[in-house]
Amino acid sequence: MRASIGCCLALVCVLVSVPLSAQICEPGVAPTVPTVRFTLHPDGTATDTLTGLTWKRCAQGQLWDGTTCTEGRAWYMMNSWDDAMRGLQRRPVKYAGHDDWRLPTLDELRTLVDLTCRDPATNVEVFPNTPSWNFWTAEPSDWNEAYAWRIDFASGRENADLKLTSSFHIRLVRGTFRPPVEEPRLEFVEVIPEPQQADGIHDVESEALATLQDPQEALQGFPRSSAGSIDWVRALQAGIVSPRTTVEEGGGPMAELDFTIVMAETREMPYVRFPHKAHTQWLDCSNCHPAIFVPQAGANPINMGAILKGEYCGRCHGRVAFSIYECERCHNVMHRDSPERWW
Ligand code: HEC
Ligand code: HEC
Ligand code: HEC
Repeated sequence: MRASIGCCLALVCVLVSVPLSAQICEPGVAPTVPTVRFTLHPDGTATDTLTGLTWKRCAQGQLWDGTTCTEGRAWYMMNSWDDAMRGLQRRPVKYAGHDDWRLPTLDELRTLVDLTCRDPATNVEVFPNTPSWNFWTAEPSDWNEAYAWRIDFASGRENADLKLTSSFHIRLVRGTFRPPVEEPRLEFVEVIPEPQQADGIHDVESEALATLQDPQEALQGFPRSSAGSIDWVRALQAGIVSPRTTVEEGGGPMAELDFTIVMAETREMPYVRFPHKAHTQWLDCSNCHPAIFVPQAGANPINMGAILKGEYCGRCHGRVAFSIYECERCHNVMHRDSPERWW
């Protein structure tokens, strides 16, 4: 790209044209429009093996000298959209033995945009000396007939511009377009919350999210329940985890309480075994007593309806502890009326 820079020396002011051609690319990122995709022909055209299209390697008005595109008349070849479209219709461009050169559609021209680079946002080995400026597509805007689509090859951005008064470059193409399989476009986002981190437990807006270990990686090899979720009780028994009383070191061990209460109002379902031990290895007495349960056997009108609504055992189970639908982990005491294997 050339920019006119006013240069004042003593009292003499001169206008000089300075080439600002240094392309900037993301370091360490693979280009999205790699040179290997193209078959380069000696006549200054290139066939894209991905799309089947053949492109002129020079912008209209530039000259192909056998290795690169020289400035030629590039800056004089900027056209309003109507001029470009009508001009090509009236006087078809003859080049490299063909006269069916045309303006690309938006989808076609987009296949040359490499968002890992800017100034220009394309492959300059295949398209040397590409002006970092707008290029027209053949596509009129569908929301305003006075506009047509163009791509700014400085940034790679697409937009619609006034057909009549905007003067842009054109790059010609021929052949039948084979749309490439959609690949995820490169996006410059600081933190992308992984789906497993958007689990209602992690704060997806926290800056620390990116530095925390990926839960899937951290939980590899943990014992699983029959329903496929992590079995924390067995993980603790196996010594894979060891809960602490405080976040800081030296909080001392958990105060375990080893007594079990069997709850028998379960109809034909096996009775419920409530183990204090499996709970007090993680929780303090005050997590349950007295707010959730009066500490007295049989004093709480617990039932499944209330649990499913998030009361009693449902304050934790189905949220931070195993799911309500893993019935057999609570209902595991067989009795006279319970079927042999009911699950
Ligand atoms: C996960 C919740 C939970 C935690 C934590 C918990 N308990 Fe309980 N506790 C219960 C439930 C449920 C019952 C039975 C209530 C019922 O049958 O209605 C119970 C009953 C009791 C009872 C009554 C026993 C009886 O026979 O009447 C005592 C005493 C008790 N807990 C003490 C404790 C102490 C001490 C701790 C801490 C070391 C503790 N609990 C931690 C849920 C909990
Ligand atoms: C987190 C533990 C837990 C899980 C999981 C659980 N239950 Fe229960 N269930 C209970 C408790 C506690 C009671 C009340 C027992 C009492 O008061 O004696 C109960 C009671 C019941 C009752 C008696 C009627 C009623 O509505 O209270 C039925 C039936 C029942 N559960 C079926 C199920 C089924 C089916 C599942 C699986 C879909 C299931 N439960 C999962 C703890 C659980
Ligand atoms: C304050 C939270 C909390 C409440 C309330 C609670 N639990 Fe739990 N429960 C846990 C945690 C945490 C674990 C261990 C981690 C896990 O299994 O997800 C656990 C584990 C268990 C286990 C051990 C399962 C196994 O495989 O050994 C049983 C059984 C159980 N709960 C039943 C109940 C019943 C029945 C109630 C209601 C009477 C209840 N829990 C209320 C948090 C709670």
